[in-house]
Amino acid sequence: MIRESTLEVLGDFPCFPQEVVRLEQSQARTPIAEAVGAGPAHRAFIEALPAEWQADAAVEIFSRLLYLKEGWYPLGPHYHFDWGGQTAIDGKRVETLMVLLGGGSQTEFILGPLEHLEPEAEQKGGLPLRTPALQSSMRRMGARPSWDEQVEAGLRACALRRWHLEPQKLVLFDNWTLHRACPASTAGWRVLIRAIRGLANREVVDHGPAASFAGAAPRRGGGVYGNLGRFTTCRNGFIPVTDEERARYEPYRDGGRT
Ligand SMILES: [Fe+2]
Repeated sequence: MIRESTLEVLGDFPCFPQEVVRLEQSQARTPIAEAVGAGPAHRAFIEALPAEWQADAAVEIFSRLLYLKEGWYPLGPHYHFDWGGQTAIDGKRVETLMVLLGGGSQTEFILGPLEHLEPEAEQKGGLPLRTPALQSSMRRMGARPSWDEQVEAGLRACALRRWHLEPQKLVLFDNWTLHRACPASTAGWRVLIRAIRGLANREVVDHGPAASFAGAAPRRGGGVYGNLGRFTTCRNGFIPVTDEERARYEPYRDGGRT
C-alpha cells in the first residue's frame, strides 16, 4: 500500500527567548483548557490554532521541554510515524499541528510516497505482495524492512525528499508522515509543542465542570478527559549522588545553562 508522507507549513510563530522556553511546562496529552496555563509559548501556540481545532474538545496538547547539548538527540533517531497504527476517530488520520522553539535539534521529515505493509499481511505476520526489490530486502532481513533502506532508495531516485523542521514554523502533518530525531547542533533548551487531533484511544473521565477554551464544547457527560493515553512524559525525581552523576546532571540545574 502506497501512502503519501506529507507536511504543510502553515505559517510563522513568534520567537521566544531561551529564558522563557526553559520555564515552559511539558504537557502529556492534556486538554487545551489545561495546557493554556503551561507558559507563554503554550498559550501563544493554542491561540494560533485554527478556530476549528480550538473548538474541538477532542484536541490534545502534547509537548516536551528538553535541554540538549551539542550532539545529543531528543529521542532515539529511528524513522517512525507519530501514532502510527493507532485507531483514529471515524477512521480518519491523526493530525498533528506542531511548532519547535529552540533550534538546536531540527527533526528530519521524509516526504513523498512510501510503501507500507498491507495491514492484513502485517497482522498475519506473513509477507504481503511487494515490489520485487522490497520483497528481496525483506527476505534478506527476515522481517519488515527498515525504513532507512526505503528512504535511501527513494532519495537516490528523487521520489522522496528530506526536509528539516525549522524553529518558529507552524507545521501540519499526520500519522503517515515519516520522520526521525536529529542531534542538536548547539546546546540549549528546546520545546516541541504539538496539538493532536483525531486520536481515539482515550477515555472520558468526569472531572466536574469542564473549563473550556474559545468556546470548546463540553465533552459527553459534561466532563473532560484525563491523561490516559499510552504515551506520556514525566519528571522522574532523579537525584544525582555520585560525582559523575552530578556532573552529568549539571546542565539541568538552575544556573547550569550554557
Ligand atoms: Fe515523532
